[in-house]
Amino acid sequence: MGFPIHRPRRLRVNENIRRMVRETKLSVDDLVQPFFVIYGEKVKNPVNSMPGVYQLSIDYLVDEVRRAKDLGIPAVILFGIPEKKDPIASEAYAENGIIQRAVRAIKEKVGDILVITDVCLCEYTSHGHCGVVKKNEVLNDPTLELLAKTAVSHAKAGADIVAPSDMMDGRVAAIREALDAEGFKNIAIMSYAVKYASSFYGPFRDAADSAPKFGDRRSYQMDPANAKEAIKEASLDVEEGADIIMVKPALPYLDVVRMVKDTFPEVPLAAYNVSGEYSMIKAAAQLGWIDYDRVVMETLVSIKRAGADIILTYFAMEVAEKLQS
Ligand code: PBG
Repeated sequence: MGFPIHRPRRLRVNENIRRMVRETKLSVDDLVQPFFVIYGEKVKNPVNSMPGVYQLSIDYLVDEVRRAKDLGIPAVILFGIPEKKDPIASEAYAENGIIQRAVRAIKEKVGDILVITDVCLCEYTSHGHCGVVKKNEVLNDPTLELLAKTAVSHAKAGADIVAPSDMMDGRVAAIREALDAEGFKNIAIMSYAVKYASSFYGPFRDAADSAPKFGDRRSYQMDPANAKEAIKEASLDVEEGADIIMVKPALPYLDVVRMVKDTFPEVPLAAYNVSGEYSMIKAAAQLGWIDYDRVVMETLVSIKRAGADIILTYFAMEVAEKLQS
């Protein structure tokens, strides 16, 4: 029984009926705003490849996090730019490192908003890789201890959730064990479980000054051609104790987002709408080639429709403002 009995257009005739049958609704509750934090005072360095994104000193960061909280955003994620880098990423786990200071400042001055910290070494290593390097090889097992130390130092500073993004095997278990041993049983792990070796991270590496000095990340991040492997990565992280899992990037991998959600419906799923996805939209808008507001909303709705429960996006605060109006 089809046409003329069935006319799907009946449910599209006006906005009220479209609202009533809408399947996916974006909410401020879904959004996480990323920030880049740097030493100094009253520093606000624009990131050229990411219009509207800045490296912020802690004083300005606190103001922006307060604004995010006032907009109803439940969580922020922090990335740090250290004062100096070395081969073993000392500042990643220093008690007075940039992230540790930033977390303490937010907890003291802003209070009630979740602080997620990105746990990785690439911003802090002189070679720019996410692990310990020996003879141009990124070593897995010796890196685990440094990641665990980093996560514990973030928890000590007051982080609510730690988010390992390094893609070393076994890091979720190593971090869980270290957190528990230090009494941080209620600090959750949001693992970048399914993280591809993507060229969409290009602008982020300008923002975080974290480009590898030799080679690339293909020996630890996933091959963009693989989808089934995402299930293997996600199931290992869930087994190891990840509370929330993530797929990254988002838009070029919506099939993977759907597959991971269908396979692990009980695990909250995050998707990271990464820097390159953001910059492409900003650039096209600057050229006057797209309707910016609509493209941003359509992008975030598509990520949610694919199965993401949580969206990390540089658009979060802008979108939260729009959702209010
Ligand atoms: C750190 C890290 C990266 C991103 C998040 N955490 C960069 C990378 O893996 O090179 C990318 C985020 C973005 O592009 O917005 N390892």
